[in-house]
Amino acid sequence: MTPYRPAQRLLHWLVALCIPILLVLGLWMTARASANLWDDQTNLLYGLHKLLGFTVLLLMVLRLFLKLRSTVPGYPASLTPMHMLVAKTMHGLLYALLFAVPLLGWAGVTAYPALITVAGYHLPAMPGVTQDPALAKQLFELHGTLAFVLVAFVVCHIAAALVHLFLKRDGIFERMWPSKSVKRP
Ligand code: HEM
Repeated sequence: MTPYRPAQRLLHWLVALCIPILLVLGLWMTARASANLWDDQTNLLYGLHKLLGFTVLLLMVLRLFLKLRSTVPGYPASLTPMHMLVAKTMHGLLYALLFAVPLLGWAGVTAYPALITVAGYHLPAMPGVTQDPALAKQLFELHGTLAFVLVAFVVCHIAAALVHLFLKRDGIFERMWPSKSVKRP
């Protein structure tokens, strides 16, 4: 089975690693903010979350660029058209959420404004977004809600990948795994 390109596999696993870290940071920092704990640790958590979240956005731009430039490996004949449609829809929605969630976070910190991250490094302001704390609040609410929708989709995605790895054994999992043994024709 044709694997994804090495760069695509690397980006996939980098983004996959960032999501649980962002989730933990997001929940931890907002819990401290709700408890009114505004100290260096809370600021560090927010700073790390913003920097890592923005990095995910940049990685996703690269992923989309590579996806549009290369042909998607075909599915095995054992997959029904219905399965293929579900897989393509899920992947499309995952891409959409992986752009929407960090974009909303970035728009929120631009509107607030709170662009500082760690070690005094400021993110660029999102072009076209004006300073408006009320708008920032709405953007953060949507950011948080869609982050949980993203996590639900990621759980389904992992479940499907494990079904292919352990039950179907059709090579679908291996083509995204960073193994040396798989070669592109
Ligand atoms: C894929 C990327 C991201 C994920 C999965 C993610 C996830 C989360 C989660 C789970 C929360 C907690 C929500 C809650 O408790 O209701 C959160 C909050 C937050 N995120 Fe993100 N985030 C991402 C990217 C970003 C980016 C790029 C920024 C800004 C540059 C950002 C800024 C924030 C801020 C400021 C909050 C706190 C909002 C508030 O206090 O209401 N996030 N994020």
